[in-house]
Amino acid sequence: MSFKINDSISWVGKIDWELRKFHGEEYSTHKGTTYNSYLVRDKHTALIDTVWSPFREEFIDQLSQEITLSDIDFIIANHAEPDHSGALPELMKAIPDKPIYCTANAIKSLKGYYHQDWNFQVVKTGDRLNLGSKELVFVSAPMLHWPDSMFCYLTEDNVLFSNDAFGQHYASELMYNDLVDQAELYQECIKYYANILTPFSKLVAKKIQEVVGLGLPVDMICTSHGVIWRDDPLQIVNKYAEWADDYQENQITIIYDSMWNSTRNMAEAIAEGIRSADEEVAVKLFNSARRDKNDIITEVFKSKAILVGSSTINRGILSSVAGILEEIRGLGFKKKRAAAFGSYGWSGEGVKMITDLLKEGGFEVVNDGLRELWNPDRQSLENCVSFGRDLAEALR
Ligand code: FEO
Repeated sequence: MSFKINDSISWVGKIDWELRKFHGEEYSTHKGTTYNSYLVRDKHTALIDTVWSPFREEFIDQLSQEITLSDIDFIIANHAEPDHSGALPELMKAIPDKPIYCTANAIKSLKGYYHQDWNFQVVKTGDRLNLGSKELVFVSAPMLHWPDSMFCYLTEDNVLFSNDAFGQHYASELMYNDLVDQAELYQECIKYYANILTPFSKLVAKKIQEVVGLGLPVDMICTSHGVIWRDDPLQIVNKYAEWADDYQENQITIIYDSMWNSTRNMAEAIAEGIRSADEEVAVKLFNSARRDKNDIITEVFKSKAILVGSSTINRGILSSVAGILEEIRGLGFKKKRAAAFGSYGWSGEGVKMITDLLKEGGFEVVNDGLRELWNPDRQSLENCVSFGRDLAEALR
């Protein structure tokens, strides 16, 4: 499949309907993804990015139907990660001498992955590549989200090729932002930001200011995953600016795991307490062993506070809670509050351990947490309700 975006740009990527995990097993892709590759034709022709290696032969085959490969003059590698560079080795077998325009860091990554000495041409912010009547202008975007990442901008057509930024893992044959289900699109965009870009929020804010400061008109944003933004393309840039500014909604998320439902009963009683004190706040509960971890992270991203609970086991915490806390630590959320809870039978280290992990993850821990012995009785559940109520009142 390929299609024309306008008279000079064609989409030549791959829709991966079946993908359910990305980055190994790290990121769930409930709605598949796309690897977007673009062919820009002018007097000279540029190919922007490729696709993941399982689709390399299909990609080359379809690209060959679109253009004689030797007629490609320039290859642009906006990002070296294998989901975009995976077909390069196959392509370079066919056109081995063609130049690959990329950042200096991308050369390190591409050589690191493919061990080839291709004809690399280093570009940096402000460099321009003349295609004939139009130019590609390069903007390096280090750590958005890899050191090698960059954008490029096509003059005259006013198209920003932003690679991962502003993308989503969302397979749709409709391919344009105005044609797809808006709620689905929003969910995949915020999930992508929360799970991938949160650690780089300061850089996101700075890069947006820099790109906006260039004063370039943007009629379309062609990302490397998901839909093409053609209807009000700056809406996603504005969303990113909002998300990069320590985003939070009026939401408290409760994450727990439980061996015999004691900690689950605590979680539900705490939620009841929160609701009794604040009717406005959204309270969401997730069993970390049974819910998708990336969906939970998205809810953490939206929250002003989180509560994390685990039974104590083997003088520690349950593995699903440990796993999600490690994800949360790595993402470096800012300006969020937190507390721990959990049931225990004898030693009861779990709550302190969670409290320490939350502090290490950059959360402002608001109290010492709540522990209840064995299966909570009526009085213990009342304690949980009060714990939730006090917390909600403190956060109002
Ligand atoms: Fe879509 Fe960072 O690769």
